Order: sequence, then C-alpha cells, then structure tokens
Amino acid sequence: MADSRMQLTGRTFIVTGGSSGLGAACAAEFAQHGANILICDVSERGADVAKELGPAVRFARTDVTDGAQVQAAVDGAVAAFGALHGAINCAGIATAERVIGRDGPQPLEHFSKVIAVNLIGTFNVIRLAGAKMIERPVEPGEDRGVIVCTASVAAYDGQIGQAAYSASKGGVVGLTLPVAREFAQHQIRVASIAPGIFDTPMLAGLPEAARESLGKQVPFPSRLGRPAEYAALARHIVENQMLNGEVIRLDGAIRMAPR
Ligand SMILES: NC(=O)c1ccc[n+]([C@@H]2O[C@H](COP(=O)([O-])OP(=O)(O)OC[C@H]3O[C@@H](n4cnc5c(N)ncnc54)[C@H](O)[C@@H]3O)[C@@H](O)[C@H]2O)c1
Repeated sequence: MADSRMQLTGRTFIVTGGSSGLGAACAAEFAQHGANILICDVSERGADVAKELGPAVRFARTDVTDGAQVQAAVDGAVAAFGALHGAINCAGIATAERVIGRDGPQPLEHFSKVIAVNLIGTFNVIRLAGAKMIERPVEPGEDRGVIVCTASVAAYDGQIGQAAYSASKGGVVGLTLPVAREFAQHQIRVASIAPGIFDTPMLAGLPEAARESLGKQVPFPSRLGRPAEYAALARHIVENQMLNGEVIRLDGAIRMAPR
C-alpha cells in the first residue's frame, strides 16, 4: 500500500515564531530532515537563524496578527519552494499581570494584545495557510497538509497573573478540534502541543535561581524542557497520520500551582 502520510523531505512549512525558542528548534529539526522552511516572525533574528540553517530555510518578517503580512508569507513560501504542506504556529508572547493590580484594573489593551498575538494570530495563520494548502491536488487518503499550534499548560492550570495568557492558550485548545473537523474534508490535520516549562528566551528574563526552581517543580524529568523535545513532537505530529484534533501536554507531569 502506498504511504499516504506526510513526510518532511521536500515538503514546505511556514514556522511562525521561528526566530527564537521552540519555533527556531522546529525550523532546525524540520530542515535537518529535508523540509523547506519559511520562518515568519517579527524579530529579524530569523534572518540569522535562516542563514545558519542553510538555503532550504528562509525568513520573512511577518506579524501574525496582520492579514496582509501572513498572506504575503504564505504566497512567498509557495513562490520560493513550489507548494505549502504545513504550518507550525509558535509565535507568541507571555505576560504576567493581575486583573486588579496596585495601580488598579489591568488596562484592557494589555489583555487584548495577548489575545491578538497568541489566539487571533494563530487563527490568522490557520485560515490563510489552510486556504493555500487546499489548492494542492492530492490522492484520496493522502495528507494534504498538517497544522501544529502551540497552546500551553497555562490553558488548564493558569497561575495568578495569567488571565490573558491562559485565556489565549485556552482559545488555541478550543479551536483545535473544530478546525480539525472542518479541515478533515480537505485532508488537512490540525493538532496542538501544550508545553510545560521550556528553556527558551521567553524564560531567559528570569534569574537563574528562578529558572532552577521552576525546573525542580517538574515531577520527572526535574528540569526545564528542551526546545528540541518540542520540535521532536511537532515532527512526530506531522509524520503520524492518526494524530488529529488533539492537544498533547508535553510537560513532565507538571501541574502548575496557583502562584
Ligand atoms: N517557553 C515555554 O516555557 C513555553 C511554555 C508554554 C507555551 N509556550 C509557547 O510556545 C510558543 C513559543 O514560545 P518560546 O518559548 O519559543 O518564546 P520565544 O519568545 O523564544 O519565541 C517566540 C517568538 O514569537 C515571536 N513573535 C512574537 N509576537 C509575534 C507576532 N505578532 N508575529 C510574529 N512573531 C511574533 C517573537 O519574536 C519570538 O521570536 C509561544 O506561543 C509560547 O506562548 C512556551
């Protein structure tokens, strides 16, 4: 029987947030296994990441909240590599702010900004990358495309100060199944990863002692997650055709405390 599952070799993926952390690890892992990658990120660091990873990896400065910019990135991926087979959504921002702080209620724009990047940005990429992917003819039963989104354990065990972040990631969890159901007719799979605490620049702002203490809260292994471990799961989702409509916790069994 012909193998209808998605392979990485010669396939093209956009990786949002690919300039740093989990997204950069995905770009490296996928490129190492023969995929073409367009890194889509607001940070120009993606140009250096692309240069380091070789000619199959390119960078397009892209704000995921902007429809025209994401459309340009999706079109650019096809222009550069011939087709689009998947999207890995890693762009995101993390904030910590109480609903009612010392200076009064949290400004509404702070909440809106996190929802805009983490949730609406993810949806923006899903809709535009999905529309591009369905242009590609495929055989019945064959993977036409795979979309991986990044939620967080904060979607389930949000801490004090994480109302906006948890709500945004809860939104990513919530859209995974309905989009997978809708895209099933197009032979496009959608799955999400809910990481625990990973050692990325997002955490770099914390002092070493705080990072160490976070790592110790993980039952096993008692350490921070490695970006390569996230990338390995993203790759597995792409390659395992039965994974669809699911959110997978990748967290060493951590359950976050209230604070
Ligand atoms: N590191 C963790 O412990 C952890 C845990 C759970 C979930 N996550 C999620 O994983 C994803 C990746 O996080 P990371 O730890 O690699 O962080 P990171 O800060 O290293 O990388 C995030 C990237 O997203 C980019 N970005 C931010 N806003 C953007 C926008 N509007 N358009 C395009 N790009 C944008 C940033 O420039 C950055 O390169 C995020 O969605 C984050 O919420 C991280």
